[in-house]
Amino acid sequence: MSGANRINMVPYIVVLPLVFVVLLFLGFFMRASQGEIINLPPDLFYALMTLHGLGMAGTAAVGGLAALLYLNARYVNINPKVGTILFVSYLITVVGLIVATLLGKFGPGWYVLYPLPFLSNGVWASWTAGVAVISLIFLGVAILIVQLELFRALVSRYGLKNSLGWQFLSGRGEYVPPIVIITMAGVVLPGILTTLVGAALLMLYFLKWINPELQLDPLLIKNMIFIWGHTLVNITMYMGIAVFYELMPEYTGRPWKSNKYVTLAWNATFFIVLLAVFHHLYMDFVQPLPFHITGQTFSYLATVPSTVVTVMGFIAQVYRSGIKWSFVPLAFFIGVTGWIVGGYAAVIDSTIVVNNQFHNTLWVPAHFHTYFLLGYYPILWAFLYYAAGSAQEAFAKFGLASYVIGGIGFVSMFYVAGALSVPRRYAEYSAFPIESLMNIAQALPKVAVIFIAYVIFGFLIMTFSTFAGMGQRTPSKA
Ligand code: HEM
Repeated sequence: MSGANRINMVPYIVVLPLVFVVLLFLGFFMRASQGEIINLPPDLFYALMTLHGLGMAGTAAVGGLAALLYLNARYVNINPKVGTILFVSYLITVVGLIVATLLGKFGPGWYVLYPLPFLSNGVWASWTAGVAVISLIFLGVAILIVQLELFRALVSRYGLKNSLGWQFLSGRGEYVPPIVIITMAGVVLPGILTTLVGAALLMLYFLKWINPELQLDPLLIKNMIFIWGHTLVNITMYMGIAVFYELMPEYTGRPWKSNKYVTLAWNATFFIVLLAVFHHLYMDFVQPLPFHITGQTFSYLATVPSTVVTVMGFIAQVYRSGIKWSFVPLAFFIGVTGWIVGGYAAVIDSTIVVNNQFHNTLWVPAHFHTYFLLGYYPILWAFLYYAAGSAQEAFAKFGLASYVIGGIGFVSMFYVAGALSVPRRYAEYSAFPIESLMNIAQALPKVAVIFIAYVIFGFLIMTFSTFAGMGQRTPSKA
């Protein structure tokens, strides 16, 4: 054991929930506008949508990396400066994106798909693209530094083969790393590879901003965006699962040991996460056919290894363990369930014949809101509550209940709209040529906002429970 845990979590515990609650309100306003309850001008809607999407995905990634730094410092020597670099870069990115979107109306959506950010469309000025790109470079570089530091730390303690769990496959090997290490090794490596693609992309965008004459290949840029973005959000989810593996035994009293099944599952995930990305390219008919076949095949395969070891492990942890269902394990249970439900909804959409119908409908936000709002984020909130050392159980559980009820109702409205072919990314639906579709598209958000209010209320209570209980107990291995 490496001993002292030196990653300071307090800045994350305070700032991440504050940013999140602002982003929740942006979501509330967008949905209220789609339901004609308020009237956001389209340029403002798209600026809010861009800030909301980039903010939610970025905050999730930063929270997951901070959690991994904190938990892995139990086993390996991590340089605590990387925690500070990550946090400061995150703040710079948040401020930069707020300036670009809220002041400059930068609104190409969180994909920032080429050439949209650079169009002189009369809505946002060229400087906004520059500010957004530079802000994202800060975050991208910080993410890369943290991933490299995690990789360095685990390889220098356990060696590459042992970190990947290969001693279980060969039957030889001195060290048996904890499960969090094997899981993390399987996700940090693809993270590093694809963050480098993201770095190249942002550099190209930066050059394009400096020299508008530069012409980039839109298809190449789209592929790079998805290799980076798809992998980043997937491994963010897996970071949540790694947190769950590491902390759950503290509530069941049973060790969650590494074994060959865990190794096989997370080694397989390494390839699956990289190859499933092709499901984002189905609509690009010029892509070679094998890309599409690879996308569908690996999206289906994604449902098996990590899910099976996680569910089986969870059952083995909980069954007759006498666990007391306090806030943290409850939130973990919700999170794993949300991850699986949202994941299967995504796999439905990754089926080519279904994607022909569902592509760019609200089915897509439905599935990713499920595994983020009800999957990953409950695990992150539970982790922050744990790291804060809070014991405000009654408030935390009450908040969680409201958050989950609200979340289920909110995403259900997205699913129904998606199944009825309501397109995504429409600031308003009044121009729909089919009146019946317009009516239902406008009615569903009216119901959704009630549930969103439950989410916001529940989240505020959960955050209160974390803040108010800070330092009430010492996290067990800290
Ligand atoms: C109750 C909480 C939330 C509400 C009310 C909300 C609301 C919305 C709405 C209305 C949209 C636009 C949908 C469309 O018409 O295309 C949207 C998009 C999006 N949301 Fe959320 N959201 C919430 C939580 C989250 C969370 C937790 C995440 C975490 C990843 C997230 C990430 C995104 C992303 C990435 C987009 C796509 C933005 C784009 O297309 O550029 N949201 N959200």
